[in-house]
Amino acid sequence: MKNILITMICFCFLGMVQASEETCTDIKLDVVENNFTLLCDACHTNLPTAPKFKTGDRLDKTDEELKNSIMNGLNAMPPGKAFLKPEEIDEILCYIRTLEEQ
Ligand code: HEC
Repeated sequence: MKNILITMICFCFLGMVQASEETCTDIKLDVVENNFTLLCDACHTNLPTAPKFKTGDRLDKTDEELKNSIMNGLNAMPPGKAFLKPEEIDEILCYIRTLEEQ
């Protein structure tokens, strides 16, 4: 219960910070979650070399850097721009930033 409360408070702060950047407003969480599960999660949960966002891997990088990697691919990761629109990549990036467990 305490964890749920803390998570909710974190989400509120996240919303406030990101609203000012315009890219993170109005996310359709179910759509984003669905995209992530379909296109990213198989590797990012199971592939040993893929960063695990739950533990904060790579999340210290800037939005620009991460967006570039998602769009154009990075080593074993295929380029996401083949199947995602730029705004969908923005949304997925916002979503990834919510996955880190404090
Ligand atoms: C085929 C497996 C695979 C798929 C599918 C995949 N990734 Fe990755 N991803 C990786 C691997 C492996 C790395 C680490 C690459 C490296 O640093 O060598 C990575 C790295 C990343 C990084 C960190 C990039 C950086 O600059 O350090 C992000 C963010 C990321 N993936 C997001 C995504 C998203 C979002 C999707 C779905 C659209 C996705 N990945 C799909 C395997 C995958």
